[in-house]
Amino acid sequence: MKHAQPVPSLTAPLLTQPLDPFPYYKVLREHYPIYYSTEFRSWFVTRYRDVQQVIADPVLFSSEQALRARTKKAGRSHPQSAPTLLWVDPPRHRQLRSLINLVFTPRTVANLEPRITAIVHAHIDAIVARGSMDMITDLAYPLPIIIIAELLGIPIADQQQFKHWSDVIVSPAREAKRQAVREMNDYFQMVVTARRQEPRDDLISQLLAAKIDDESAMGLSDAEVLSFCRLILVAGHETSTNLIGNALLTLDEHPDALDSLRKDQTLLPQAIEEVLRYRSPLQRLRRAATRDIQFGDALIKAGDIVSPVVGAANRDAEQFDAAETFDIYRNPNRHLAFGHGIHFCIGSSLGRLEARIALAAILERFTSFQRLPDVPLQPVASSFVYGIKHLPMTFRVR
Ligand code: HEM
Repeated sequence: MKHAQPVPSLTAPLLTQPLDPFPYYKVLREHYPIYYSTEFRSWFVTRYRDVQQVIADPVLFSSEQALRARTKKAGRSHPQSAPTLLWVDPPRHRQLRSLINLVFTPRTVANLEPRITAIVHAHIDAIVARGSMDMITDLAYPLPIIIIAELLGIPIADQQQFKHWSDVIVSPAREAKRQAVREMNDYFQMVVTARRQEPRDDLISQLLAAKIDDESAMGLSDAEVLSFCRLILVAGHETSTNLIGNALLTLDEHPDALDSLRKDQTLLPQAIEEVLRYRSPLQRLRRAATRDIQFGDALIKAGDIVSPVVGAANRDAEQFDAAETFDIYRNPNRHLAFGHGIHFCIGSSLGRLEARIALAAILERFTSFQRLPDVPLQPVASSFVYGIKHLPMTFRVR
């Protein structure tokens, strides 16, 4: 028995992916902090402390079982490829993460700084030459995908194909999603086979060669490398695009904050942390209960899907003063936008770096920029990812 449901359901409005889900989160957080959503067929957990508890505990709240439940719901007996980092529990998670950490190091990310800067300025040059811009299509979207494609060693000519796959995979369209996953697997399979035969200086070749230096000399199978490629393409693309888009939208709404950044760019990193908190690119995560759990007033049954809503936790007044206010001076700011615990985002420093370089260049090159107020904002079609599809802006150049 789930707890008594208010009528109408409190999560029904979230089905339409509103641009302002925060008032709905507030009601949930304050009155129904552990709420069974019939629409999403999962428990919505919205208070900061509870969200943190769920994502810190892979024994009670499993990622692996959450994936299995999703696969079953989609009518498949097996996931379409080897389970990847995001969807495995310890001990396998620890082994995979150690292998990936050998290759995806802080130096890998730091070395990308000149290349990110060059790509950002080339895109701004094109915007200036054209005289008009959609910040998403013209900058926030292409930047992360070029970086990930280059990291993986994939020809940039296939960029449009990548856009299609990653858009479809985060969308609710089930059949299209399956098709995209199949195509992406075939594509990466081809690249993995080629790199096995002839390694190059890229992430895929390094992943294929990585071994944990112990007696087992364990490495990654081709299928695991393939799954990881697919994961970082999707996990590292939509999220970073939306971080940049959400930052520009939020700064447009908060001219005082924008002024402060113009006067002092050293504030950029903390402004980015505040955007991550205020408009988290990933709003909701996914786990499954491994046994019956009494959680507050709710009895979560073994196998039930649990959705820790980080976007709601990040606005919890118990954790953040003036939680609904965008404040670039907020300190401390222990938001959960990159998750928490063993699955903490492996690409957090890359996401932050891309956003910092993009915003710094925009501040430097444009003396002003403003959203076209007549163009309505369209949310990204996903109940997990938060962002806007387009952000047309007017601008003045130096
Ligand atoms: C601003 C951008 C980003 C945000 C907000 C974000 C958010 C997150 C969150 C919340 C998780 C935890 C998921 C969970 O616990 O279920 C996660 C995991 C992950 N992210 Fe990110 N991410 C971003 C950028 C990136 C980038 C650029 C990459 C890769 C290049 C990446 C790769 C990953 C991977 C591989 C995981 C799984 C880690 C694990 O399970 O151990 N992310 N991300």
